[in-house]
Amino acid sequence: MDFELNDTQKLIQATARELARKVVRPLARDMEASEAVDTAMLRALAEAGLVGVAVQGDLGGADAGAVAYALAIEEVAKACASTAVTLAVTNMVCEVVARFGSPAQRERVCPRLCSGEWRAASFALSEPEAGSDPGSMRTTATRTPAGWVLRGAKQWVTNGAIADVFVVWARTDSSATNVHAKSTKGLSCFLIERAEVNPSEFAVGRHEDKMGLRASSTTALELNECHIPPEAVLGAVGDGFRIAMTALDGGRIGIAAQALGVGERALELGVRYARERSQFGRPIAEFQALQRMIADSRTELDAARLLTLRAAWGKQTQKGVTQESSMAKLFASEAAWRVCNRMLQIHGGYGYTREFDVERLWRDVRVAQIYEGTSEIQRWVIARSF
Ligand code: CAA
Repeated sequence: MDFELNDTQKLIQATARELARKVVRPLARDMEASEAVDTAMLRALAEAGLVGVAVQGDLGGADAGAVAYALAIEEVAKACASTAVTLAVTNMVCEVVARFGSPAQRERVCPRLCSGEWRAASFALSEPEAGSDPGSMRTTATRTPAGWVLRGAKQWVTNGAIADVFVVWARTDSSATNVHAKSTKGLSCFLIERAEVNPSEFAVGRHEDKMGLRASSTTALELNECHIPPEAVLGAVGDGFRIAMTALDGGRIGIAAQALGVGERALELGVRYARERSQFGRPIAEFQALQRMIADSRTELDAARLLTLRAAWGKQTQKGVTQESSMAKLFASEAAWRVCNRMLQIHGGYGYTREFDVERLWRDVRVAQIYEGTSEIQRWVIARSF
C-alpha cells in the first residue's frame, strides 16, 4: 500500500494551496459580508485547472483524477468553505456531462466550465417536497414536437444565482398517471443553459438566508412551462435516478474533502490561539483538557482524510464507491463539526465573536452533515450496502 501522492496530485495540491492562501482567503470575509462569491476569483481557480480536475484533457479538464480533486477542494475549503462548495458542485456537473453527455453536450459544456468562461454550474435535483427522497420529485418533463416542456420547482440549488448551466431532473414517465407517486423510475436528466431559455420560464427564485456558507448562492428554481430542445436530454430518457446517484457518489467525496479542509483550518487556528493565549501564568496549550481536544481533533481529521482519499482512489480506479463515499462524507462532516466546536471552545469568549474566523468555520461546516445526503441517509446507504 502506497500513501505517497504522485507528482500530478502534489502539483494540484500545491496549486490549490497557493491560490487558496493568496487569492481566496483574503476575500473570504468580504464575500461572506456581501453574500456573493467573487466571480473573478472563480475564473482564476478555473484557469489554474481546478474545474474539471478529474475530467479528461480533450474536454479541457486537468485529467488528474479524483484524489487530486479531493486534495484541491480541501485546500480551497481551508480558505473559504463557500468557494469550495461552489467549485465542488461545478466540478460535479462537469463530470456528469463528461460521463453521461452526448459528444455535442460534452464539447459545448466541459471546455467552457473548465476554462472559467462559464462561471459555475448547478445540480438541480431536490425539490421542496423531495429532499432525502428525490424519487418522489414532482417536476415533470413532457415531450412535445419541438422538444420538452418542464413544469415544477427545484430547491437548494447551489450556484443558482451564478450558474451558466444547470443539470435539472424531471419525471418523464408519461405512463405514470399519478406524478406524485414515489418512483425512482421514469426520471430523466436535462442540460439547460441559462442564456438559451426564456427567463420567465426558467426563473431563479429566492436566495436562501443561510446560517453559514453565506457567500455561496443557494436558490430555488421555478420551471414555468419551460421549453427546451430535444437535444437537452442528458443520458438516456428514464435513466435520471441512476445518473443522480452516480454523481452523488462522487459529490459526497467533494463534501467530505470540504469538511476536512474546514476542520483542518479550525485546528490550525485553535492550536495557534492556545499557544498564544496565557491564563494562570502559562499558555492554555499546556492544560491537559485542551491537549485532549487537540489530540482527538488531529486523530479524527487524519481518519477523515484516509476515508476521503480511499473513496477518491476507488472512484478513479473505477471501483464502486457508494458505501466508501458515504462513509467518507458521514465521518468527515461529523468529525469536522466536532473539531470546529472544540476549537471555538478553545477560543473562549473570543471564539463567539465575528472577530475570529473560527466562528465562521463553525457555522460553515454544519451543513456538510445535511447537503448531498444527510448523515441519516449516509448511514442508511452504508448499512444497506452489506
Ligand atoms: N449508483 C448507481 N445506481 C444507484 C445508486 C448508486 N449509488 N443508488 C441507487 N441506485 C439505483 C438502484 O440500483 C436502483 O436501480 P434499479 O431500480 O434498476 O434496481 C435505483 O437506483 C433505485 O434505488 P433505490 O431503490 O435504492 O432508491 P431509494 O429511493 O431507496 O433511494 C437513497 C436511495 C440512497 C436514499 C437516495 O434517495 C439518496 O441518496 N437520497 C439522498 C439524496 C441527496 O443526497 N440529495 C442531495 C441533492 S444535491 C444537494 O444537496 C444540493 C447541492 O447542490 C450541494
